[in-house]
Amino acid sequence: MTVAEPVPSRSASLPPLAARARSVGGSPVRDILAVTARPEVINFAGGLPAPELFDADGIAAAYRAVLAEVPGRALQYSTTEGEPSLRAALAARMSARGLPTDADDVLVTTGSQQALSLLATALLEPGDAVLVESPCYLAALQAFAFTGARVVAVPGDADGVDPGALAELVLKERPKLLYTVPTFQNPTGRTMPAERRAAVAAVAARYGLWLVEDDPYGELRFEGERVPWIAAHPGAEDRTVLLGSFSKVMAPGLRLGWLRAPAELRRACAVVKQAADLHTPTVNQLAAARYLADRDLDAHVARVAHVYGERRDAMLAGLADALPPGSTWGRPEGGMFLWARLPDTYDTTELLARVVRQDVAYVPGAPFHVGDPDRSTLRLCFVTETPERIGEGLARLGRGLRD
Ligand SMILES: Cc1ncc(COP(=O)(O)O)c(C=O)c1O
Repeated sequence: MTVAEPVPSRSASLPPLAARARSVGGSPVRDILAVTARPEVINFAGGLPAPELFDADGIAAAYRAVLAEVPGRALQYSTTEGEPSLRAALAARMSARGLPTDADDVLVTTGSQQALSLLATALLEPGDAVLVESPCYLAALQAFAFTGARVVAVPGDADGVDPGALAELVLKERPKLLYTVPTFQNPTGRTMPAERRAAVAAVAARYGLWLVEDDPYGELRFEGERVPWIAAHPGAEDRTVLLGSFSKVMAPGLRLGWLRAPAELRRACAVVKQAADLHTPTVNQLAAARYLADRDLDAHVARVAHVYGERRDAMLAGLADALPPGSTWGRPEGGMFLWARLPDTYDTTELLARVVRQDVAYVPGAPFHVGDPDRSTLRLCFVTETPERIGEGLARLGRGLRD
């Protein structure tokens, strides 16, 4: 007797998805980026650095050098913590900015997005509370949601989270951490002043709160004075995880970020990272370290920031005509984003499809909010397009909103 072979079905049905994959919806950022890929669309939506300002020659030279001089190393597996030369260079940059750091304090990550997801996996149990700003960076909300954590918004104002409300919520919710983007925040572009940072650090020290300070934009300042990291304030030094990234100052395609954290937490993140991707691509790390050694990244960033400042001005110059009377907007001193609020009767999520028909795109504000969304808000990225295209894009936006 022969045993019948199982007959393969023509179309295999999916294995059941894990609850965390079922419960978290798709990313609105990704859906919107799909629309804006059409070249005729003037893109105020995606958070894309200006591609014409990438130092492609300098980066190419760095890759050529490491591939010519240490090919066996550049193309080999590396340690999970990261290449020593890059960790040392990152530590030196942080130390130079007032935060004494050793190479060993740094874990290199595959973009700072990975740092968020490592922290979420290492720290959060289902039901744990995480405090955030509202509005908040979308993909951080997503990383926290995947763990089943409860995301709770801290009330705030134009200067960031309110320290009094923060203290109350810490006592009430017993959160694992506060996630904040204190400099040129995504999505609002706002910056937390030094006194507010000191107050947040004092709350953290007093109530034993852990802070995650995410700073991908801080170097892109075109106006005003640099504000020290929260991590450098008394009380926060030993309870802050500082995240950084080369995405906005070198190029996002490198996928290079980092995390500075106290030893035990850093080690936990390294174990999680091992399971995620073993390590961040060696050749990218060595090329970035080589770039930092051979070139002047700060001079490059200063040039980029100058151009971004011109683009912010171009956007500010056209907003009053583009947005309906009664709208308000911020005036960011750096970074990439500007946040606007239209009169209450406008719903920017509903309006988006109509506006995109005019070949211009923004991101509606609602998904950035935790809890009750402010539906009349929107995020505009002012760096991807030239001043001429910004002017034209705002004219189209005005037509789309008026139609
Ligand atoms: C606040 C914030 N954090 C983290 C990231 C992730 O950046 P990357 O993974 O490219 O370093 C972004 C990207 O837009 C961001 O806006």
